[in-house]
Amino acid sequence: MSPPPLLQPLLLLLPLLNVEPSGATLIRIPLHRVQPGRRILNLLRGWREPAELPKLGAPSPGDKPIFVPLSNYRDIGGIKGASVIFGEALWEPSLVFAFAHFDGILGLGFPILSVEGVRPPMDVLVEQGLLDKPVFSFYLNRDPEEPDGGELVLGGSDPAHYIPPLTFVPVTVPAYWQIHMERVKVGPGLTLCAKGCAAILDTGTSLITGPTEEIRALHAAIGGIPLLAGEYIILCSEIPKLPAVSFLLGGVWFNLTAHDYVIQTTRNGVRLCLSGFQALDVPPPAGPFWILGDVFLGTYVAVFDRGDMKSSARVGLARARTRGADLGWGETAQAQFPG
Ligand SMILES: *[C@@H]1O[C@H](CO)[C@@H](O)[C@H](O)[C@H]1NC(C)=O
Repeated sequence: MSPPPLLQPLLLLLPLLNVEPSGATLIRIPLHRVQPGRRILNLLRGWREPAELPKLGAPSPGDKPIFVPLSNYRDIGGIKGASVIFGEALWEPSLVFAFAHFDGILGLGFPILSVEGVRPPMDVLVEQGLLDKPVFSFYLNRDPEEPDGGELVLGGSDPAHYIPPLTFVPVTVPAYWQIHMERVKVGPGLTLCAKGCAAILDTGTSLITGPTEEIRALHAAIGGIPLLAGEYIILCSEIPKLPAVSFLLGGVWFNLTAHDYVIQTTRNGVRLCLSGFQALDVPPPAGPFWILGDVFLGTYVAVFDRGDMKSSARVGLARARTRGADLGWGETAQAQFPG
């Protein structure tokens, strides 16, 4: 949600993902959990990787292009032969980018959000015939004990990740993945977004965010204590007593229990319970809107469908299956997509 970093477009030919020659339409990109401790280690390791660091400096006019080696950290898939324009970030607004050590940001929003009108990767893959349909879905594994972080599926969705049917909700503003939210309920007593409001689905946001006043009322109801930057903590011992928080989308309730919306971590041996709801006022004209981030998208799988000439863009939602509970998962995947 921060302003786009300063970007400098450069063209790269990128061997990214493997497309099944059989014409199978789904491309699977596993998501890996990076343990906080290991992050730093990898960061240090990463520094050693390029044999020699490029000499950076402003090119003088008429100079030949400057080639900057990119060291590959986690090789996000397997499509081959895609030609995608990259933006190079020249300035990063937060240390997150240094410590999280990722290869970059894969923009999956609508083309209108793209810096300097560059074609987004999704559009390019469809144009170049590497993907049948402009559809993708995220399955996020929220269990911090598991190394498997989930899966990004390009070209469709895999019912092995969710419990059908999907509830489809039309995209109201095709920029972010914005939909209309009918209501939010906190237990039986409190109603938020009472007249309906806007919400976006965003894997790039960790928590669920909403307008300050509403998030304050929500925490008053569940006993949240303000922390910093719109975040709240919860007394861990209260978790079993906390009410469900429910979102009405497309006429269907999507409920989160306290187990879903409280993030339990241990820092220096101390158990800490962070509320999954954060106050964030997105200013007009884009906002105000709620952001249904990873806290929501871990419990509910979202299928993002850009639509085509005949159908408009929409988001499908269904409860995620937990992988451990579903023995058929690996077999389904292999049977459908050999190799
Ligand atoms: C989900 O929340 C709604 C609204 O509070 C409630 O009416 C419904 O019974 C809940 N569903 C489940 C399965 O808990």
